[in-house]
Amino acid sequence: MKVLVAYLSEGGNTEKLAKGIFEGIESSEKEILSIKEVEGVEGYDVIFIGFPVQSHSVPVSVEAFAKTLPDGQKIAYFATHGSMKGGELAVTAFYHALTISKNVVILGTFGCRGQVKQSIIDALLQKAEHRGWAMEAQGAAGHPDAADLEDGKNWAQKMIAKALAR
Ligand SMILES: Cc1cc2nc3c(=O)[nH]c(=O)nc-3n(C[C@H](O)[C@H](O)[C@H](O)COP(=O)(O)O)c2cc1C
Repeated sequence: MKVLVAYLSEGGNTEKLAKGIFEGIESSEKEILSIKEVEGVEGYDVIFIGFPVQSHSVPVSVEAFAKTLPDGQKIAYFATHGSMKGGELAVTAFYHALTISKNVVILGTFGCRGQVKQSIIDALLQKAEHRGWAMEAQGAAGHPDAADLEDGKNWAQKMIAKALAR
């Protein structure tokens, strides 16, 4: 099985998770690349796509990448986010990822928290409308941690098993 893990990471959190996911994939033909390094998307049995949640959504470059995938491509999305795991902000971003992914087969999604830079939290705390989210983001300190990486690894194995069963 030929597998690609493609990710965007501005602060290193999603890259860390991508590496954990990559470790969980038992395939002799696996590659891990930053989305900016991907030269072609043809010929992969499964593509894992990772991104940091930004403004409750999918970063523009990741959306553009998702739109280049061939019809019928099996994909799985993973993300890191400052907000709570399973919380509304992360779910909204995944929902967006699913709506932009037309004519592909979505195997599943995985999200975990990713530490938010203190400078960003400080700036958000200054604005009343962002204060709630900034308070929530403080709880992401130290993530992704070893447990997140283990969960990501296990999830990747499930995604591969699902792809093989289809
Ligand atoms: C500009 C910007 C916008 C962000 N917006 C959100 C958001 O809407 N929801 C959220 O849960 N986290 C948000 N975050 C937090 C990041 O998703 C989180 O810290 C992530 O782990 C960063 O991943 P990276 O280190 O791979 O870039 C934002 C971070 C930045 C820098």
